[in-house]
This record gives sequence, structure tokens and C-alpha cells, in this order.
Amino acid sequence: MAGRPQNIDDNVFCIADLIEHAEKRMSKSAFEYVGGGAMDMITTNDNCHSFDRYRLLPRVMKDVRHVDPSSECWGVPTDFPLGFSPTGLHGVAHPDRELGVSRAASKANTPMCLSSWANSSIEDVVAQDINRTGAYAMQLSVVEDPESNLYTIRKAEAAGCKALWVTCDLPVLGRRLNEFKNKFSIPEGLTVPNLSPNIDFKSGYDKGMTWERVQWFKKHTRMQVWLKGIMDPEDAELAVQAGADGIIVSNHGGRQLDGISSTLTALPGVVEAVKGRIPVHFDGGIRRGTDIFKALALGADFCFVGRIALWGLGYNGEAGVSLALKLLYDEFYATMTMIGVQKVKDIGRKHLAWVAADGSLVRLPEIGQGPTTKYIKARL
Ligand SMILES: Cc1cc2nc3c(=O)[nH]c(=O)nc-3n(C[C@H](O)[C@H](O)[C@H](O)COP(=O)(O)O)c2cc1C
Repeated sequence: MAGRPQNIDDNVFCIADLIEHAEKRMSKSAFEYVGGGAMDMITTNDNCHSFDRYRLLPRVMKDVRHVDPSSECWGVPTDFPLGFSPTGLHGVAHPDRELGVSRAASKANTPMCLSSWANSSIEDVVAQDINRTGAYAMQLSVVEDPESNLYTIRKAEAAGCKALWVTCDLPVLGRRLNEFKNKFSIPEGLTVPNLSPNIDFKSGYDKGMTWERVQWFKKHTRMQVWLKGIMDPEDAELAVQAGADGIIVSNHGGRQLDGISSTLTALPGVVEAVKGRIPVHFDGGIRRGTDIFKALALGADFCFVGRIALWGLGYNGEAGVSLALKLLYDEFYATMTMIGVQKVKDIGRKHLAWVAADGSLVRLPEIGQGPTTKYIKARL
């Protein structure tokens, strides 16, 4: 039939299918480690559901022959505004682990941030960059011992990473009930080669971290320093003042404190507080191309997905990750085309509405004129 999109897999036509089929191929404990969150998973689930509270506002007759979904991340051009957030222990999902994710990402010109809890070294991960995108970053779970932090930072810098993502929402590990119930631990045979061999796991993460630490990171690396886990407008302002090169609005996929707001709900307040001074990136709950579009419309400069890399691996290794990226690219391209917008920078609040209690569509107020502004004024 004219113009019908091509199938690329016999089972998986969207990310919901990918999850369903990954479950059939992964062990129970690995599947629950990936999909699980903290406590009752209110926040994990709300991350996804928040996207459904908005309706898209398409316009027609817009000449959409030349839609361009390309974007930019860490100064590197990308095919579309999506990358991989750091997720630990890819080895539990498939033997291709982070190396397969890296190859799939590179082939699709997609940025990747490696977890400090990865089962592959950052050198090996960057060596899979067949397409020479150079779009790699390293995430740091900060511990008290500065030398242990520097170990990971130096490895990432030597491997050519563009950015260091400092995870800020991890003073202690969230209470992930599935991991207790399944007695989840790092499976035998898997290592975490980006962590210092001298790291003292018993003392946990650095609970003493404050905003001054940003300058310490800036002093010790040439990489851009991004702060991951910013949810509050006041914290966003403090991140700018502290000298961060960018922030990631994230609640760790709902794996840290359960009951906090979804990232999509927090996003407009952070965007309004930052006022364009540094880039605002976003993750949490994205499962469709329309979700990427909605996050950009609410002011995100770039989006990331975490679990999808692991579900892709679990379904079919590197090929499963490539499939996931292709589906999301195609869905995002189709969304831009049917909304009638040609360039990513032109996506904005005018493309979204709420459905009011009486069923009517309500356009979003301009930045500075809605309830978010009142909320921020109360906070700053
Ligand atoms: C299995 C798993 C492991 C994760 N490991 C890390 C990690 O090591 N460091 C980190 O900063 N965030 C980690 N995250 C959080 C992700 O970076 C990201 O914020 C989150 O997955 C985004 O939500 P999404 O999975 O709905 O896309 C992890 C998430 C998952 C699901």
C-alpha cells in the first residue's frame, strides 16, 4: 500500500512490543532489575504516564517534504535528538553488553553515556565507534575517596569522552524491592572495569557532595561537566551558578526516591529557571517518538533513554538496540512531519495542549505566564 512504513522485525513494531519480547528472553531477575524502580514505583510509572496528559496539536498543509530531525549533543551533530543514558550492568541482558549498544549507537549517529557500573571498559566502548561519531560521555557515581573518582575520570578523558555526567541524586541507593526479593547481585564472570580497584564499596556513595564540588570536577578534567538528576528550579539555578556545562532533568528512572514527580512534570520549571544559559537535557519514561517530541516541546534541548538499551539487548543483542533506535527515529520523524514542523528548533509549547475537565483543548501558557512561574517564584 502506498507509503506504508516498512516492517523491520517480525515481532517488534514499537517499544511496548520490544519490552514484551525482551521479557520472554531475559531471566526474571534481569528483567525486573531493568524495569524496576524504587518502592511502589509510583515515580517510575508516572514518568511514562505523564506524556499521555498532553495532546499534540498538528497543523496541515505545511510543505513537509524536507523535515530535518537532526540535532546536537555535547557539541557533536546527531541524527535526531535522542541518546542513551547510563545504565549499569549490560552484561545481565546479553553478552553483547555495552559494546553492542555502542556499535548500534554509532551506526545510528546516536550519543551514548556509559555508566560507571558498566561491564565494559570505556576504552573498549569507544573503540566500537565504527561511524566515528565521537559522541561518548562517562557517568560518575561519586564516592568519598577523590582518587577513586579520578580513576574513572582519567580513563574517560583518555578514551576521548566529550562529557562527564556527575550523578547528583545518589547519596544512598534507592530501595529497589525487586532487587531484595530476587537477591540480585552482579552475576559471576561480569566485572566493572571503570571503577577503581581500590574502591571501598562498603562505605557507599559520597553523601557529603555540595555545589562547590562542580569546580573540583572542572579543575580535574577537560571534559564538559554535566549534572544529572536536577528536578528543582532552585537546584537548576544553583547548577548554573556552580558552573555546570549542562544539566540532565532526571529522577534516575524512578529508581531513587519513589513518590517524587515525573521528569516531564518537573521539566518546564527547570527550563524556566535556567533561561537558556546552559543546555537542559532530559530523561525518564520515553517510550515513543511522540514522547521525545513532547519533552522537546516543553523545553528540553535533547532527550535520553535508559532502559530501552537494555530491553533492546535482551531481545536481540546489538541488533535489538539498532531496532529500538530505528523505531524511535521513524516515530519521531513521522511526528514532526504530521505536526507540520521542519526543524527540531521550531518544536515548542505551541504544539501541545491539555484536555480540560470539560473536554476542551487548552493551550499551554507562554513561559513566564503560567502556574509554573508562580511555583518558581515561590522557590527562588
Ligand atoms: C537498570 C538501570 C541501571 C541504571 N544505572 C544507572 C547508573 O549506573 N548511573 C546513573 O546515573 N543512572 C543509572 N540509571 C538511570 C538512567 O541513567 C536513566 O536516568 C533512567 O533509566 C531514565 O529513565 P528510562 O529508563 O525510563 O528512560 C539506571 C537505570 C536503569 C533502568
